[in-house]
Amino acid sequence: MSDDLQLLRTETEAALAAAADLRALDAVRVAVLGKSGSLSGLLKGLGQVPAEQRKERGAALNRLKAEIEALLEVRRSALEEAELDARLKAERVDVTLPPRPFAPGTAADGGIHPISRTIEELTAIFGAMGFRVVEGPDIESDWHNFGALNIPDHHPARQDHDTFYMPGTDPNGHRRVLRTQTSPLQIRTMLAEPPPIRIIAPGRTYRADHDATHSPMFHQVEGLVIDRGITLGHLKGCLVDFLRAFFGIADLPVRFRASYFPFTEPSMEVDIGWNRRTGELGGGGDWLEILGSGMVHPKVLANCGLDPREWQGFAFGMGIERITMLKHGMPDLRPFYECDLRWLKHYAADPLAPASLHEGV
Ligand code: DAH
Repeated sequence: MSDDLQLLRTETEAALAAAADLRALDAVRVAVLGKSGSLSGLLKGLGQVPAEQRKERGAALNRLKAEIEALLEVRRSALEEAELDARLKAERVDVTLPPRPFAPGTAADGGIHPISRTIEELTAIFGAMGFRVVEGPDIESDWHNFGALNIPDHHPARQDHDTFYMPGTDPNGHRRVLRTQTSPLQIRTMLAEPPPIRIIAPGRTYRADHDATHSPMFHQVEGLVIDRGITLGHLKGCLVDFLRAFFGIADLPVRFRASYFPFTEPSMEVDIGWNRRTGELGGGGDWLEILGSGMVHPKVLANCGLDPREWQGFAFGMGIERITMLKHGMPDLRPFYECDLRWLKHYAADPLAPASLHEGV
């Protein structure tokens, strides 16, 4: 290789090594191989080279061109890789950082509605006891809502519930109603799956009733356990554990009081201890009714095709707004549905603090 080509090669190599980024690299390419680049100039000057040297010189120039192109490529991929590395390093997300709380006043400044929060808590507590969540339709047949639950046609309970009847009937000729309770989920679950069964069913319920403590739409949660050898002892243990975990009071007094529901036998209402004067839960010597429960009535089991001699169970149901109001000391039911931002901001739960079992089961 002649001296001038050797020099060009050395200079180009140095320039390539010095190119710190892709832009600098491209400048080197233009300076050497571009239209008026140094190597292009030499190629153009071939015509002036004496004829006997031209062939050899031409071949040498082309070899050098190919070499420089290869060197350019090597340097380009090295620089590209370095640039990608640098970008990945700069854009790295530290997944171990705690999330930032949402800035107040921004669109993301949200919270969990207290009803949703209570449902999350119910799910966490009963989930830890092996219960599953099931859901059913808000528009029920009166057979699921009443008949199968041993509430016959002219039973006063149908009036007590101030039922909203819908026009028309379902395909089986049953009247359609807005469910007055979540208890139809007992029927639907027993018809849909064989025991053992352990479910809770939170959801909306409807009754024609409206005042400070009643709303035409409200929420209940139903519970159902079906297995062999289930006794009142299981019911009591389960509900005492639940109430103490939900209210976060380890020694919350709980009382079981004989009562009547058409779908349980025996039936019990469950009271918790509180102070009527201060509204404080726990001590105080007064009792507050909180939920209905009982051993599933043999007729209800039979209505669902289960032999009451083989299968027993217990059921319970309670108002979600009611236990939420008691837990948080809320005096009035109506703000739950009024979308008043001041109330929502005050009572909403932090979406970044999921319901946990910190109070234990
Ligand atoms: N469904 C009843 C109501 O709305 C509550 C209830 C009582 C549910 C006793 C039950 C139960 O499962 O066993 O008043």
